[in-house]
Amino acid sequence: MRKRAELYRGKAKTVYSTDDPDLLVLEFRNDTSVHNGARIEQFERKGMVNNHFNYFFMTKLQEAGIPTHIEELLSKKEVLVKKLEMVPIECVVRNRAAGSLVKRLGIKEGIILNPPLFDLFLKKDVQHDPMVNESYCETFGWVSKENLMRMQELTYKANNVMSKIFDNAGLILVDFKLEFGLFKNVVMLGDEFSPDGARLWDKQTMNKMDKDRFRQGLGGLIEAYEEVAYRVGIKFC
Ligand code: ADP
Ligand code: TMP
Repeated sequence: MRKRAELYRGKAKTVYSTDDPDLLVLEFRNDTSVHNGARIEQFERKGMVNNHFNYFFMTKLQEAGIPTHIEELLSKKEVLVKKLEMVPIECVVRNRAAGSLVKRLGIKEGIILNPPLFDLFLKKDVQHDPMVNESYCETFGWVSKENLMRMQELTYKANNVMSKIFDNAGLILVDFKLEFGLFKNVVMLGDEFSPDGARLWDKQTMNKMDKDRFRQGLGGLIEAYEEVAYRVGIKFC
């Protein structure tokens, strides 16, 4: 398999075609952005850490029966994936109140959400990824009712699998975002799972070990990601 043309440069990853029309290479860069690209900084080792993080968790999810786009870890910063027709919707599960939920409802950060909440956001940077719901997806034709139900089912399943892994590592999976796409009409998990798109708190200290360190200017972003990776048992190549 040979990497070919650059197809798309996103905020954190670059997407390349390959000589197989069904496969793409994702390159994880060191760029970190907030507010949909309004502030961007580079962090040494971030691309490498997130690529391994994503590969580790996607493999666990695949083993648990969640179809993912992952094919092969190619290098420190690159992974080979199936080319999906991406659904422009972000699926969020929340186990505890944080972030936009706290702002929107005026509730206390950290309260347990039982059962966990499921939110949908439209992937649209210029509109700051607005919150939407099932009826919007149907009316605007972003994804069929049936596929959206499957995305919800898979996101909750991923929550069960990953919450256990983090719990065993002394961490709380507070919330996270997943993106899905279609491969030959089958819903598959695409994009990435990493501390860029999740909230992870230390169980003892409640310290934030995710991208909120950057959003809130707390410092030590990559050190926190590496600590999480170490506790979970992720090995870097
Ligand atoms: P953004 O587009 O939000 O700036 P990234 O920098 O992460 O995000 O760019 C990666 C892009 O690749 C995203 O737009 C994502 O939807 C897309 N993508 C991720 N996985 C796949 C895949 N398997 N097939 C096609 N596109 C994908
Ligand atoms: P929120 O509190 O900003 O709504 O985010 C909830 C979780 O989803 C949090 O872990 C960050 C993640 N997320 C993204 O990574 N990208 C997004 O565009 C959105 C809306 C959420």
